[in-house]
Amino acid sequence: MIEWKDEYAIGIPLIDEQHKKLFEIAENAQSLLLMPEYIDKFDEILSIVEELKAYVVFHFGAEQGLMEKIKYPKYFSHSIEHQDFIDEMNKLSLDSIDQDQQSHLLYIVNLIIEWITQHVLEKDRVMAAYYKEVQSKS
Ligand SMILES: [Fe+2]
Repeated sequence: MIEWKDEYAIGIPLIDEQHKKLFEIAENAQSLLLMPEYIDKFDEILSIVEELKAYVVFHFGAEQGLMEKIKYPKYFSHSIEHQDFIDEMNKLSLDSIDQDQQSHLLYIVNLIIEWITQHVLEKDRVMAAYYKEVQSKS
């Protein structure tokens, strides 16, 4: 099961709190995925998608604001990854979700897991290291 662990913290409390929220959404999506397939999950999937979209727009905005503040050299490539994630979310169509709820739910769960492992635990960590370096000099 997806679960936040303290070792996932990147050391910027504001961002870590927001990452915890991402884990929460992922946990909810995974619990829904594991419920029996005969249950109609459409409304719940929709609310997870809406919550995730709203969360990422807010959270990426916060991270990008932080990166601007410290003049992060990898701002551009990092922000492109944020936009790519938003684009993936926007590709989900309501009709196709309804036609195959379970495989879309699986797709969403995998998308978040992939995001956590490849972005949160990698790129955000690199950004946080730079942030701390800048902080220590000021
Ligand atoms: Fe990020």
